[in-house]
Amino acid sequence: MHEDLSVLAARIKGAARLTILTGAGVSAASGVSTFRGPDGLWRRHRPEDLATSDAFGRDPHLVWEWYAWRRELIAACRPNAAHHVIAAWSQRDGCRVVTQNVDDLHLQAGTRGLVRMHGSIWELSCWGRCRAGVTPWRDDRVPMTVLPPPCPHCGRIARPAVVWFGESLRSEDLDAAVQAAACDLFLTVGTSALVYPAAGLVHAARQHGAYTAEINLEETPASAAVDIAIHGSAEQILPAIAQLL
Ligand SMILES: NC(=O)c1ccc[n+]([C@@H]2O[C@H](COP(=O)([O-])OP(=O)(O)OC[C@H]3O[C@@H](n4cnc5c(N)ncnc54)[C@H](O)[C@@H]3O)[C@@H](O)[C@H]2O)c1
Ligand SMILES: [Zn+2]
Repeated sequence: MHEDLSVLAARIKGAARLTILTGAGVSAASGVSTFRGPDGLWRRHRPEDLATSDAFGRDPHLVWEWYAWRRELIAACRPNAAHHVIAAWSQRDGCRVVTQNVDDLHLQAGTRGLVRMHGSIWELSCWGRCRAGVTPWRDDRVPMTVLPPPCPHCGRIARPAVVWFGESLRSEDLDAAVQAAACDLFLTVGTSALVYPAAGLVHAARQHGAYTAEINLEETPASAAVDIAIHGSAEQILPAIAQLL
């Protein structure tokens, strides 16, 4: 294990272009539950059945109750050691951080130039897609008093400005993520590597000739594809690597 950490530390030191892709595992130690972990269920609903536009269209109140509950949980969470190490590395020229997380804990930790592939739970947009409400606005009030909250522009209902299963990413975020895959070292941390297009970035990075590495508690579909897979928690492994730099 120690040897793997030294190898990765040397790669990080030497990489002119470092890209880090993060998933829910990075926020687990902050108390934000992952979708596929043991705390992923809410009132017997699976996230995959709630985080869709079909579910919202059928029952916006139910979906908003779930988001309002998650917003309250996340509001009480703080960045952990993994977020802080990534934020420090992000200050380097050539480092890009791409996250699938919607909790904004990377931003709270001070990460520079963050790409939020799946949006933010702290932003809303208009479900009716009125012209002014297409651009997400920030609303970080908790608890939410009115569910579903109204669009301030047209009065119809608002939705969480997150990318739901089956939806397309905003093109500027997708472009930025694809560009970030052109790098010398691609490090994927705390993601199950199941949700596309994020899961495809590690393969794109390989095609660009990048050295690829994974940090995850468990084996994932990406583990066999990367040059080095380190099994352990992001909040322990990343600070241990930072010490070796
Ligand atoms: N924090 C958040 O914002 C949050 C939380 C849950 C889900 N989501 C959304 O759900 C989707 C789920 O995909 P995903 O791959 O990000 O999450 P996921 O829930 O599918 O997978 C989490 C991964 O993290 C690993 N993991 C758990 N704890 C870890 C730790 N301490 N250190 C390292 N690895 C750890 C697990 O083994 C698993 O592979 C994403 O699109 C994301 O937008 C976001
Ligand atoms: Zn509107």
